[in-house]
Formats: sequence, C-alpha cells, structure tokens
Amino acid sequence: MEVYPDPSAVARAAAELVVDLCAEAVDATGRFLIALSGGNTPRGLYERLAGPGYAERIPWESVHVFWGDERCVPPFDPQSDYGMAKEVLLDHVEIAEGRIHRIRGEDDPELVAGEYERLLRRTFGAMTGPPPTVPGARFDLVLLGMGEDGHTASLFPGTSAVQELHRWVMPVEAPADPRRRVSLTPPVLNASAHTLFMVTGAEKAPALAAVLEGPRDPLVYPSQAIEDAEWFVDADAASLLTA
Ligand code: 6PG
Repeated sequence: MEVYPDPSAVARAAAELVVDLCAEAVDATGRFLIALSGGNTPRGLYERLAGPGYAERIPWESVHVFWGDERCVPPFDPQSDYGMAKEVLLDHVEIAEGRIHRIRGEDDPELVAGEYERLLRRTFGAMTGPPPTVPGARFDLVLLGMGEDGHTASLFPGTSAVQELHRWVMPVEAPADPRRRVSLTPPVLNASAHTLFMVTGAEKAPALAAVLEGPRDPLVYPSQAIEDAEWFVDADAASLLTA
C-alpha cells in the first residue's frame, strides 16, 4: 500500500502506473486491457491521463477500455460511470469508438450482464470456464474504488455477487440510487494481472482500516473479496490504519 499526501498525489502516482503497465502489456501482447472504475475518486486520474505529460505517453490505438461496473442509467446521465470517463478522458484522446466497451446502462440489466460477459469471454478467448490467468487473456489492469461501506465496483455488503464463483458479470441491487447496476464479479476481477484501489478522504478511513486490518469477511466488506490488490490512498483515508 502507498500513502500519498493528498488526492492529487494519488492521481499522479496512478497515472504513472497506468503508463508503465500499458507499456508492459503492449510490449508483451500488443494491447492494453483496462477496466475503469466509477464514482468521483478516479476523476483526477482520468483528467491527468488526458493531459500533457501523460496522454502522449500512452499508445491509445492499442488500448481497450472496459468498466468494472455501471449504473443502470443512460450513457449521458450524470450518474453514468461511462459518461464521466467520456467527458474527462475518452473525448480527449485518440481512442477508436470500437475500443471503448461501455456497459449499456440503458438496457435490461440481466441481458446487459450476459452480453458483457460474452464480450469479455471473446476478448479473453475463454468462451467457457474460469477467466484465464495468462497475459492478454485477462485484464492487464482493473481500477477500483471503495465506498464508505467497504463496497467496490457494485459489489455491496450482503449481496450474492460478492460470493459469485462462476458468472463474470451480474445485475445487482445497490442500497443507494441508482439502485439497479451491473457489476463484474470477483472471479474476473481477481484474474486481472494488476488491480489498483484508489481511496481518498477521511470519510473512507473507518472502512479502509476494517478492510485492510480487520477480520476477513467479504460479505460485510466486499473490497476484501479482491485479492492481491495494490492500494494508493491519501493520508486522510489512511488516518485510522495502525500499520
Ligand atoms: C461506482 C464505483 C464504486 C465507487 C465507490 C467509491 O460506480 O460508483 O464503481 O464502487 O468506486 O462507490 O466512490 P467515490 O470514488 O465516489 O467515493
């Protein structure tokens, strides 16, 4: 885990990691498969990636963008995770529409979940069975945030998606609006070559301490269902950690 002074330093460090992992993946497989997270925290990272010092360091023609979850709202709804990334990043870099794989929040969640899983399976070359764990046949990087209740993606406390072992994408019910969401599940998230949590703000400190230092109970703290993740946090979020 890396603790940074403030959210801007977290965004800068995350941007450097994206550049490095992208270069590594493109060198090894010719493409970079990244799953973006939603919410507010990654906004600073996406803005940085679209700007000078970073945009020109990323071979956008080799990047394929996916999402770890999506709210069931139209793409241009202010609550759309795709809409936010499009506004601050995707509209500002040379990435082909065909490489932007949004979760269709405007359609029926069950159908969308099945469609997105088939897309991921085609992308990874694994039409059946668990996600492969070989380069190019899994995400190269999954970005995740964490809610104050310890949720991540749209894996919320007490929901079956937290313990899903087979489906890669599921419709889920969130405790807060928008309640209907579609989320990737631990099997496909944990198969990723790299997983990065970005957590900032004092309001996240209790959950971060519970997730990282408390007893393991992913149904209570779903971020604990994610294995081997890197954590980039700011001092406020880390303020209750003992280690
Ligand atoms: C979403 C995200 C969600 C988010 C956390 C933290 O679609 O909202 O996938 O898991 O990362 O809720 O959100 P903030 O970054 O806004 O605190």
